[in-house]
Amino acid sequence: MRGLASKAGIVAGGGRGIGAATARRLAAEGACIVIGDIMGDWASETAHAIREGGGKAIGVPLDGTSAASQAAIVEAALAEFGRLDFYHSNLAGGTDGDIDILNCSEEVLDRSFAINAKSHFLATQAALPILIERGGGAMIYTSSGAAISGNPLQVAYPMTKNALHALVRHVARKFGKLGIRANGICPGLVLTEAVAQHLTDDYVRSMLEGLPHRRLGQPDDIAGAVAFLASDDGEWVNGQLWHVNGGSLLRD
Ligand SMILES: NC(=O)c1ccc[n+]([C@@H]2O[C@H](COP(=O)([O-])OP(=O)(O)OC[C@H]3O[C@@H](n4cnc5c(N)ncnc54)[C@H](O)[C@@H]3O)[C@@H](O)[C@H]2O)c1
Repeated sequence: MRGLASKAGIVAGGGRGIGAATARRLAAEGACIVIGDIMGDWASETAHAIREGGGKAIGVPLDGTSAASQAAIVEAALAEFGRLDFYHSNLAGGTDGDIDILNCSEEVLDRSFAINAKSHFLATQAALPILIERGGGAMIYTSSGAAISGNPLQVAYPMTKNALHALVRHVARKFGKLGIRANGICPGLVLTEAVAQHLTDDYVRSMLEGLPHRRLGQPDDIAGAVAFLASDDGEWVNGQLWHVNGGSLLRD
């Protein structure tokens, strides 16, 4: 994709799953990548594998819910690669105990908002001044189809993803004239390591039956969309929430 070979970016929550696939894809396109994860070892291992394959990446520990940690990962990108062109804010977690509205505690709600909404706010606060100073750049966030599907099994997580949509639109509107593009990807069911280990064959079969596609999602399906948004090919895409889901939700 155009322009990625001269860029450097951050993938937060890139130790495994969709984030790791995205870091690999961006590095394969020639970009320099800083991978951050609360599991610092996962970040280092993913970066190590990229370097072994000839790519440019480092892994650093990141607590996305901490402003200091978000500032540190931006500093790490500038120190290691001398520039920052995009930030993929992808991390998520804290869904244990997130059931329905009558069975989700206030603590679970607060934890989910810290990990799944505040982290994106802090990532944006840390990265945006640098992107603005260099004349523009891309913020790319991972949301979820759960934000709009009406999820009967979780209440807090879809609330946080809708908060993220407000952030995407705010950043796009406020900073577009300064060269900033803010977009979100809303994956459908993606067979990451973590997801795959919890799925029964029956569940997979029933998901496939309802999907107007021949297969469920793979992390690389999302990685390709993120790479496009980070590249110069995505130059005119701003303020969008892209559903990448094999057609599981059809909307304008
Ligand atoms: N897999 C799916 O089916 C699916 C569907 C819709 C949306 N999503 C979204 O895609 C993104 C990636 O999901 P995934 O399936 O790859 O999940 P995953 O659990 O495999 O990856 C999330 C990563 O974030 C890291 N993380 C968690 N809390 C963190 C914190 N406080 N600071 C830094 N890192 C932290 C985890 O250690 C992990 O490596 C998430 O935003 C998720 O909501 C996934």
